[in-house]
Formats: sequence, structure tokens, C-alpha cells
Amino acid sequence: MTDSKRFTITAALPYTNGPIHIGHLAGVYVPADIYARFLRSQGHDVAFICGSDEHGVPITIKAKNEGVSPQDIVDKYHAIIKKSFEDFGITFDNYSRTSAKIHHETASVFFKTLYDKGKFVEEVTEQLYDQEANQFLADRFVTGTCPKCGNEEAYGDQCENCGSSLNATDLINPRSAITGNKPTLKQTKHWFLPLDQYEGFLKDWILVDHKKDWKPNVYGQCKSWIDDGLRPRAVTRDLDWGIPVPVEGGKGKVLYVWFDAPIGYISSTKEWAEREGKDWESYWKDKDTTLVHFIGKDNIVFHCIIFPSMLKAEGSYILPENVPANEFLNLEGNKLSTSKNWAVWLPEYLEDFPQQQDVLRYVLTANAPESKDNDFTWNDFQARNNNELVAIFGNFINRVVVLTNKYYDGIVPGASSFSKVDEETLTKMRAYPAVISSAIERYRFREASQELMNLARLGNKYLADAEPWKVIKEDETRTRTIMFVALQIASAMATLSEPFLPFTSNKLKGILCHSALDTETVWNDIKSSEILLPAGHRIGKAELLFSKIENDAIQAQLDKLEATKKANETAGKEIDPIKNEITWDDFAKLDIRVGTVLEAEKMPKTKKLLMLKVDTGLDIRTIVSGIAESFTAEEVVGKKVTVLANLAPRTLRGVESEGMILMTETPEGKLVFVNPEGADTENGLRIS
Ligand code: 2FM
Ligand code: ZN
Repeated sequence: MTDSKRFTITAALPYTNGPIHIGHLAGVYVPADIYARFLRSQGHDVAFICGSDEHGVPITIKAKNEGVSPQDIVDKYHAIIKKSFEDFGITFDNYSRTSAKIHHETASVFFKTLYDKGKFVEEVTEQLYDQEANQFLADRFVTGTCPKCGNEEAYGDQCENCGSSLNATDLINPRSAITGNKPTLKQTKHWFLPLDQYEGFLKDWILVDHKKDWKPNVYGQCKSWIDDGLRPRAVTRDLDWGIPVPVEGGKGKVLYVWFDAPIGYISSTKEWAEREGKDWESYWKDKDTTLVHFIGKDNIVFHCIIFPSMLKAEGSYILPENVPANEFLNLEGNKLSTSKNWAVWLPEYLEDFPQQQDVLRYVLTANAPESKDNDFTWNDFQARNNNELVAIFGNFINRVVVLTNKYYDGIVPGASSFSKVDEETLTKMRAYPAVISSAIERYRFREASQELMNLARLGNKYLADAEPWKVIKEDETRTRTIMFVALQIASAMATLSEPFLPFTSNKLKGILCHSALDTETVWNDIKSSEILLPAGHRIGKAELLFSKIENDAIQAQLDKLEATKKANETAGKEIDPIKNEITWDDFAKLDIRVGTVLEAEKMPKTKKLLMLKVDTGLDIRTIVSGIAESFTAEEVVGKKVTVLANLAPRTLRGVESEGMILMTETPEGKLVFVNPEGADTENGLRIS
């Protein structure tokens, strides 16, 4: 076992305005969990820290839109997010929230310390203000045109098109997100962190020092920020949702969400340490602790420039050793979007694919957006499950366990002399812990997961070449050796798969009865020539580790996305512009009546037309209506309808239509009757 080393691993605190989706998982939580599990498996002392990011404008806007309080919103999503992480097997040592008392205290003290040390610049500036809403417009409360790329939907803090980080006053043609009004400028006092004063420190620390081992995307973004020249950054806001500014003149103002959120890592560590009887400071202030932030690429500037400057300003904290930010994951070729519901939501996945957490973990790792944006497709999900997890990993284990039970009643047979191939295979197996460790230590989780799969391939090839099912007929001794070797590989897989496929690893350890071994198998045992499963050890019966995913399960997911697409198209449809004004007299000319459909019949050779007999209370007349794509003839008989009764007759496909039935459309494009309210409205009653 390597010397125990202390690690503080943080995963970006998710905003609590929606559930977790596959983009969050692939970008942050799955790699962070693999890393934390791996470090624990090496005997290190790990604090894996996360929590809900509960402040910020999007949460206030959502609350306003839903007519509830911001606290209601964060309570709801905090519970959903926390549970789905647990069910998905993410092993945070602590999952806290930024509305917790301990966080408010920690963030306040942090701000106050910087304030007392004179680290802020206090300045009165003109900020955007919405007169009607009586409110300053910070961050997402304002949209406008991005000065860098011309995107007309940029936010006051960021342009999602070009990724630029913005100040609200940078926007061209700003509009209030609350009222749509053009904002005015109003003076207000704020506290700024003078990032320009940290340029030298950041240059030395990132560019000169040792950050060449950071991922090129992270290093590149930092370099460009520093090269562009840093400006003071406001760390307070005129809002009422957040942590009150704890100094004189701070009334009615709160800490900027990006000031308080990263401090959430510290307060969550404190909460954990208090519960576990540990010393939180050693995880944040001891130079021997390695701090690593797992984030998505949109968070790079906050974790590599701003938070380190805050920590540096405070003076007693360590700085991150690495910030392995991932690129973005797309879904079926389109950008993931919470507002457009274009996502695979974790709670829904867990419901649709029960007990299949590892399949998603595997697919998101094997296809992780580590160096470029990647695409998640349901077909790839199915293929990776069926062709890799089932056909390679599962198949190997199944063959080993079934044959051991069949030939030896589940008892690991003793090996006699090893052939050259046996030796080579065992040597190759013993190389995997180092290969996988090296990939994980370099944050190359895709590569690491593929090496694990290569170990299963090694096992499959070994069995396919050695053919114990044939050899057993002529050479029992040789068969024993073959099965002994295969069982060692299976056991190595149970141990090495734990960071990637924890549920599978657990199940496999159960099947191989690892708990009956004298000591728990660790990665170093696999490296050395230790025997992993000794002769005489009894294993359990075969159980399927993975099962095939059929086409209908995939089609159901694709259908769900198709429905989302349709709903988005309809929602995005331009509302027809209003027609030219009419006079009261024009309106009075319309004779609109209550009627009932007496008979209906599909018009031959047409797709849309139904021929209806309608009782208008005045007469019974024929009306041809274009509703056949939404209703069958049988469905409409007996329906109360609204009839425009004095429309000049028109001949449609040879049938004279005497009037019109008033209809409208649902967002999905289905026609619905504009019905006269009430069951007892009588035919002939005038509506206009
Ligand atoms: O981008 C986000 O989802 C942010 N809530 C991440 C915050 S990370 C940290 F600083 F807390
Ligand atoms: Zn832009």
C-alpha cells in the first residue's frame, strides 16, 4: 500500500433549480467519484466534498415564475439532487447546501476577513436598474447583445454562445428579464476583488510554476484570461436572496453567488469534519494536502482565477493542485438544455433503468468529454452495454463462474505447472493496476475504463484459446490450471472495477466470495505475484452482471426526446400576428351558434376532411371540416360545437359546406373544439 496521503476532492456544487442530468454526470460527478474511489482504494485519506449551490439569480427567477419562495425551490431540488446522487452511487463524504447556517457563517467570516485585511476595493458605480420592478439588474436578471460575439440572448454575467464572462453593463441593448424594460443606470456601492493585483501571483502560479500538467483546455483558458489583463470583480450584489454582506453599508446587499459558492466546499468540509470528529483545517490549510476541483468548462475562470485569488487574499489556505475541467456532453447531436428539457435526467434514468447505474457510469466514462465536446446517443448507450459490458465483461465472468461450478462444485481448483501462455497472461494481468492507476492519476478516465475492459478481453482471449471445455475431456490437470488462471483474472476484475462500476464490483465480489478471504484484496496484491483466489476457496453461483438492453427500451427514450423536440418546436412557434382591426359592425355580422354533431363521415380520398351533419338549432346542415387528422368520425358524433352559421357556402370536393366549426390547437398540434361551456347549452343559442 502506498503511503497514506491526504486529498480534498471537490465536485462543483450544482445549482438547485433543476435535477441532475447526464451532462453534469459526465462532466463532473462520475470522474470525481472514480477519482475519490480510486484514492480510497489506494489507502489515502480522502474528503470528497459537494453540496447544493442555492443562491444566484436563476433560482430567484424560477421562484418568481412559479409563484413560490426561493427557499421552496432550493428545498425541493436539494432533496431530489441529494437522493439521486446517493442512488447513483456517488460517494460524497459530505453533501451540504449553501443555505446551511454553517455556510452562511463561513462565507460571512471569509468576506469579513478579506474586508478587514483591506483586500477589497469599495466603489460606487452605475449599475443597470429596472424602475418598474424597483430592482437592480445583476447577472441573469438582464439579457442583451454580447459585445464579443453579437449573440442577442447573452446574460448579464455570461454569454452562453461564446463562453465570455461579462458584466451586466457590458451588454449592448440590455433588457430586464423581469419586465422586458430597457434598464436605466443607477448608482450603487459594491465591493470588488481587485483581480488586477493578483495578476503576478496567477502568472507565477499557473503560467510559470507547475501547471503544465493541467489539461490544455484549462491551461489555455487561464492563459488567455491572464494575457487579456484582469479587472476588479464585484463580489457583492443588490439582491435579496443570498448571504447578507456582513459589513457596514452592506444592508440590502448580498455576496455574489460566485463568491459564496466555492466557499461552500470549505463549509461542507467543516460540516463533515464536525460530524466525523476530524480537523477540517488540515484538509484546507495543510501543505501536504492535495486539493483537486472537478468542474465543467464553464466554471474554469471561477476555480482557476477568482477562487484561488480569494484564497490567496485570505492567506491561510492551500491552492488547487489541479482543476481537471471537462468539455461539454451533447445529447443526440444537440446541446443539453435544462430550459428546453433536452436532457437525460438522472431521476428518470434511475426509474427507467433500475439497478443499471453502472451502465450509465460506464457509457459516460467510456465516452467522456475529456478533451472535446462529445455526443451521448441512446444507440451508443445500447451498443456499449450489449457489446462491451454484456459481451466482454459479463461474458467472461459468467463463463468462469459457470465452469467452476460445473467442474469443481464452486471450489477454486489447484494449479499445477503454468504454461508459457499462463505465465504471460498472469504477467499481463499484474500490469493492469499500474496502467489503470496511471491513467486515473492523469485524469484520463476514458483510457482507464478502456484498460479495465482490456483486462476482460485478456480473460476472454485466454479462455477462448485455452478451451477448458474441450481440454476437460482429455486433460483434467491442465483444465484445473486454466480455470485457476481465469479465476485470478476474474478476481482482479472485481477489485479493479470498483471505481468505475461500483455496483458490479460489489456483486462480483459477492459471487467470488471475497469476504471469505483472509484479507481484502487490494490493488497491490494484483501487482505482486500474490494469489488472489487460493485453491480450495469456494465461490458462489453465477448471476448475470449485466443484461442486454433491447431495442424497445431505447426506442422509448428516443420517443421521449422526439416528444420534447415537438413540444419545443410548438412552443417556439411564432404567434400569428394580429389581423387588421374590424369595426363593431363587422363583428356584429358574425352569427355564431351552439350546435351538435349528429352524423359524421370521412370524405373519401382526403386526409383531413370529415363531412358532418350539424344541428344548429335553426336547421340541420352539412359542414365539411378539416379535422380528420385529429378525430375519427365516431369520436365527433354527439359533440357540442361552436358554429359560424352565416358563412357563405363553399363547395369542397364536390360537397357544399354550409358554415364552419370553430377549432383551436394544442401545443402538440392536435385540434380541439372551441366548445360552448356547460352541458346544457342548447342548440341554436347565440354566442355572438
Ligand atoms: O455551474 C454551476 O452549476 C455552479 N453552481 C457551480 C458552482 S461550483 C462552486 F464554486 F461551488
Ligand atoms: Zn458572446
